[in-house]
Amino acid sequence: MRQPIIAGNWKMNKIKQEARELAQSIVRGFIAGLPLPEVVLCPPFTALEAVGGVISGTEIELGAQNAFWESQGAYTGEISPNMLLTVGCKYVILGHSERRKYFSESDQVVNKKIKAVIHAGLCPILCVGERLGEREEGRTEAVVGEQVRGALDGLSQSELKTLVIAYEPIWAIGTGKTATPQQAGEVHSFIRGLISDLYDEELSEKLRIIYGGSVKAENAGDLFNQPQIDGGLVGGASLQAESFLKIINLYPMGD
Ligand code: PGA
Repeated sequence: MRQPIIAGNWKMNKIKQEARELAQSIVRGFIAGLPLPEVVLCPPFTALEAVGGVISGTEIELGAQNAFWESQGAYTGEISPNMLLTVGCKYVILGHSERRKYFSESDQVVNKKIKAVIHAGLCPILCVGERLGEREEGRTEAVVGEQVRGALDGLSQSELKTLVIAYEPIWAIGTGKTATPQQAGEVHSFIRGLISDLYDEELSEKLRIIYGGSVKAENAGDLFNQPQIDGGLVGGASLQAESFLKIINLYPMGD
């Protein structure tokens, strides 16, 4: 049984005070003690400590949106996995399509970052996903497969125990277009099969694969009902407590 996980990716939104208030509202509305799901808040770096303070002592976890692969040194503007640990992070989103697009992050870069994050004791949330044109050309599996292989190159099975993969079709991110539960489920099954081929079935069955791309309360229930979908990476709808809590609360109600 995989524990579902719902992560809020706040992207470059919320100054410290706003972030603190949003986290407080989420904590107030969060029904503690229910079995599902694991909830992670991923604010910008400047608000990590503030949000960490608000959620400390709750079941909600803290995540960052990026990390560099070196642990310290002359890397102006970068943040190391170790620094993230010291402010209470458990998770780090890596390889998000916005980082691939605006900061030219390649699979090789993502691979170095995943290794550094895992070796520091943090849990990576690896994002993969195809562009609309690639889907239309029937290349979704080829593209996603290459991203997964590239990102995990050289990593052993035991190093991947905490890995989460987020399937985020680029055409669905921030566009209001969501993959149908069936489209998402197909790619999730493909990823699980690939992990089974690259490693073994035990790891692939334990691996949590979440969906991202315009997840909202209105569509999340159908997506989460797919047996291959283990939760969501939520952007826009995580910026308001009400919409984020509605998505979280779909799980206990669905049971
Ligand atoms: P969205 O973003 O929910 O706003 O589409 C998801 C993401 O980019 O992680």
